[in-house]
Amino acid sequence: MIYNYCGHSGVQLPVLSLGLWHNFGSVDDFSVATQMVVRAFDAGICHFDLANNYGPEPGSAEENFGKILKNSLAGHRDELFISSKAGHDMWPGVYGTGSSRKNLIASCDQSLKRTGLEYFDIFYSHRYDGVTPIEETMQALIDLVRQGKALYVGISKYPPALQQQCYDILKEAHVPCLLSQYRCSMFDPKAKNNNFQIAADNGSGIICFSPLAQGLLTGKYGNGIPEGSRAARSTGFLQESQVTPARVEAVKQLAVIAKERGQSIAQMALAWVLADKRVTSCIIGTSCVAQLENNLTTLHNLTFSEDEMKRIDNIINQKDLWFLS
Ligand SMILES: NC(=O)c1ccc[n+]([C@@H]2O[C@H](COP(=O)([O-])OP(=O)(O)OC[C@H]3O[C@@H](n4cnc5c(N)ncnc54)[C@H](OP(=O)(O)O)[C@@H]3O)[C@@H](O)[C@H]2O)c1
Repeated sequence: MIYNYCGHSGVQLPVLSLGLWHNFGSVDDFSVATQMVVRAFDAGICHFDLANNYGPEPGSAEENFGKILKNSLAGHRDELFISSKAGHDMWPGVYGTGSSRKNLIASCDQSLKRTGLEYFDIFYSHRYDGVTPIEETMQALIDLVRQGKALYVGISKYPPALQQQCYDILKEAHVPCLLSQYRCSMFDPKAKNNNFQIAADNGSGIICFSPLAQGLLTGKYGNGIPEGSRAARSTGFLQESQVTPARVEAVKQLAVIAKERGQSIAQMALAWVLADKRVTSCIIGTSCVAQLENNLTTLHNLTFSEDEMKRIDNIINQKDLWFLS
């Protein structure tokens, strides 16, 4: 495994982290979930990314991760870097969602109980809710650190106009923002263009999610929607309508370059995200151990020639490929 420092901090993360958004819930096969976590850990993936609402059922990914820790990774807590987040819809009523102090503090307590952990290594505000003053949300994060419930804090998906405010408040309280989490892939240039430099200038690490555009950048949708894939599953977040002919065609063109590099498309897509030196790590999702193995092989070739980058840019620089919302 290769490790990068998170911005201006003493904390290192593996360049590939494992996320538990899909495939680790109560609807999924617990033995496969266990195998993926254990194999990831054995391969040096010591960072696992959670949130209160991951499942489905919401909360069940945290519960399952807690069980895996207890059954299979007992005694390894200090070798692990575990995150959780609060901000998306979680429990009924007005306090079960958003970026308020009420939601963040209660949610962190619930997540600690579900995972059986004494503290999270990093706790994030999962999103800006459009209403809560930034001061309130950041103060809640600061207090979670002061209470010993989180070692570090982070922000996820915050718009550029508010990022600086977050960093300033956190810095002033001596609880600097360790990580800024944004969606980034060959089909997702928005954060790279709008958010990364602000994070880097403020010493925050950058961690990218959905680096394979939820599986689109693996080539699996070349002949329609395969059974069992994320786009086919009723609980999957990737919609069939997002598997567009333009994206499928772009992946076919990218496959030619990947083949020349001796990589799968997925491996090239992950290497491409990591080629931006501002990026600390990218969080992958996997639905079986074979995918994890395939993605781990990315580490064998992380560099691109100028010509390869130009050819990739020519394919992906088309607005109809991008996820903009
Ligand atoms: N902060 C936020 O708001 C936020 C939002 C979203 C995600 N995240 C984090 O980021 C993590 C990763 O997101 P993601 O799951 O969308 O990442 P992703 O890596 O873009 O997509 C993962 C999916 O792609 C398919 N896949 C992966 N490797 C493959 C391979 N080698 N060959 C074929 N198919 C492969 C699998 O889907 P199939 O089911 O089709 O096999 C897998 O579940 C999440 O778990 C979560 O921790 C954070």
